Amino acid sequence: MPSLPRLEEVTTANLKTALSIRVRPDQEQNVEPVAESLAEAYVHPAGVAWPRLIVDGDRAVGFLMAFLDIDWRADGTLVRSGLWRLNIDAAEQGRGYGRFAVAAVAAEIRRRGGKEMYVTWHAGPDGPEDFYLRLGFRKTGEVSGDQPVGMLEL
Ligand SMILES: CC(C)(COP(=O)(O)OP(=O)(O)OC[C@H]1O[C@@H](n2cnc3c(N)ncnc32)[C@H](O)[C@@H]1OP(=O)(O)O)[C@@H](O)C(=O)NCCC(=O)NCCS
Repeated sequence: MPSLPRLEEVTTANLKTALSIRVRPDQEQNVEPVAESLAEAYVHPAGVAWPRLIVDGDRAVGFLMAFLDIDWRADGTLVRSGLWRLNIDAAEQGRGYGRFAVAAVAAEIRRRGGKEMYVTWHAGPDGPEDFYLRLGFRKTGEVSGDQPVGMLEL
């Protein structure tokens, strides 16, 4: 990694840059485009979605969106936080930015008192399962829709 990346809030100043983040065409089935994630952040109750641009120097290298304290089962019995979306730009993959993004969300959840970080992913050989397992997530055995659920102890 050339220098230390950082997270930036998505603002009017960097919105177009955020929207220009693109994963590889063969990965588009694995994650929604940034515009869709920002639209979801807009329609969810304030504070649930935590969207951030991943920036290294003057380059926007990716986008992440965490979910914070969501009602996981929609019946008030289970609250969870984790990584909702992660899009590392096609030209910037394999440089540690995905690992940085996971660590940054883990730090934010920990800062809020959380002890577990959740993620779900598109299953199959073209999905990011091995990336998450490499970073220490373990499969909980649950599924969310048709996606496996992973958990990282913080
Ligand atoms: C999956 C993704 C986030 C990984 O980001 P990245 O910046 O390329 O990953 P990093 O460079 O931080 O890699 C961290 C480690 O995971 C490994 N890794 C990365 N992608 C991997 C994959 N698909 N399978 C297995 N290992 C992988 C790297 O080799 C590295 O291991 P090392 O540090 O031991 O050498 C990125 O490829 C991406 O945006 N994919 C498309 C969208 C997607 O699937 N998002 C997840 C939605 S749930």
